[in-house]
Amino acid sequence: MIKVGVVGATGYTGEELLEVLLRNPEVKITCLSALVERETMISDLYPKFGKKISLLCKNLDVEEVSAGSDVVFLALPHTVSMAVAPQFLKNGKKVIDLSADYRLPAEIYEEWYKTKHTDPENLHDAVYGLPELNRDKIKGAHFVANPGCYPTGVILGLLPVVKAVVDAGLTIIVDSKTGATGAGRKGTIPLSFGEIDENFYCYKANEHQHMPEMEYILSGVVGAEVQVNFAPHLLPIRRGILSTIYIQHKGLPGENEIHKMYEDHFREEPFVRLRPPGEMPQIQDVAGTNFCDIGIKVARGMLIIVTVIDNLLKGASGQALQNMNIMSGLDERTGLL
Ligand SMILES: NC(=O)c1ccc[n+]([C@@H]2O[C@H](COP(=O)([O-])OP(=O)(O)OC[C@H]3O[C@@H](n4cnc5c(N)ncnc54)[C@H](OP(=O)(O)O)[C@@H]3O)[C@@H](O)[C@H]2O)c1
Repeated sequence: MIKVGVVGATGYTGEELLEVLLRNPEVKITCLSALVERETMISDLYPKFGKKISLLCKNLDVEEVSAGSDVVFLALPHTVSMAVAPQFLKNGKKVIDLSADYRLPAEIYEEWYKTKHTDPENLHDAVYGLPELNRDKIKGAHFVANPGCYPTGVILGLLPVVKAVVDAGLTIIVDSKTGATGAGRKGTIPLSFGEIDENFYCYKANEHQHMPEMEYILSGVVGAEVQVNFAPHLLPIRRGILSTIYIQHKGLPGENEIHKMYEDHFREEPFVRLRPPGEMPQIQDVAGTNFCDIGIKVARGMLIIVTVIDNLLKGASGQALQNMNIMSGLDERTGLL
C-alpha cells in the first residue's frame, strides 16, 4: 500500500484528488491538510466523503504529514507550494506538486508570476509531469511538477507536428475555453455566478501565465524557440477545456498524412484518443475522465487541431495520479477512468 498525504485537500483539485485516490486500490489516504480554522472531519467539509474517508483535515504540520505518508500531493496555490515542498523532499518523501512553482526556470517564473523563486535547488530536480512526453523521467523521479491545465491540452495537441511547424516558420495560434473550476475555489467578482452564467468572455489574451509554459516545453521538444499566441476564454460551465489550435500553411501535407502522424504518435498512449480525420471532440466526451481527445481538420491551407480535457482530471488531479502510478511502478491507469 502507498500511503498518501494531500495538502490543500479542501480545494477543487484536492477534492478531485481524493476522488481518484479512493478508486486506486494500491493507495491508502493517510493525511489531509489545508488552511482550516479548526481541525474538521473531511466528511463534514465534503459530505460525499462520508463513510469513505474518516480523517481530520488539519492545518499543515510537515513533520506529521511526512511521518504518515510515502507520497505527498501539493494541491496548493503557487508560492505556497515552494514554501513547503523543500521540507517534504528533505524528509525523503515523493512529492507531486500541482502548482506552477516548479514547471519553469526561475527567470521565466519570476517574470510571469511576479514573485521571487525561493527554491531554485529543487526546481532543478523537478520533472515536468506530462507522461506522454516524459514517461521515462517520471519513472525514476522523486519530485514531479504536474503541468498546468491549458498547457496539458495544448502541448498534447501539438506534440506530433510541432517540429515540422517550427521548421517551416509557421505561427501557432491557440484559442482555449475553460470551465470555471479552472480558477480554483476562492471566489472573485469575474468568477461569480452573475458574471459567468449566460455569458462568455476572453481574458488575459496573449498575457496568460500558462503561455510561457507551453512555449518553454514545446521549445524543449523542438530544440528551437517556439512562439504560441494564446487567447483563453471562460465558459459558463464547471469543468472542461476545449482548445482550438490554428496553423496556416499553403504547403501542408494532406489531412490523411497529418492524421497518420497523430495516430503513430499516440497509438500506445492510454489516455489520448484520436478522432477520425475531420471529426472534432467535445468537452462532454472527456468530462469526468483522464482522457485528452484530439481531432484534426486540414482544409484551405489551414490545420485546425481541437483538444478537449477535463481541467480537474487530465489537467490536474487525474494526471497527478497518473504520475504517482508511474513513479510507483503501477499500471498508470490504476484508479483512473
Ligand atoms: N483548478 C484547476 O483546474 C487546476 C488545474 C491545474 C492546476 N491547478 C493548480 O493546482 C493548485 C490548486 O488549485 P485549486 O484549483 O485546487 O485551488 P483552490 O480550490 O483555491 O484550493 C487551494 C487549496 O490550498 C489550500 N491552501 C491555501 N493556502 C494554504 C496554505 N498557506 N497552507 C495550507 N493550505 C493552503 C486551500 O485551503 P482552504 O480552502 O482551507 O483555504 C485549498 O485547500 C493551484 O496551484 C492551481 O494553479 C489547478
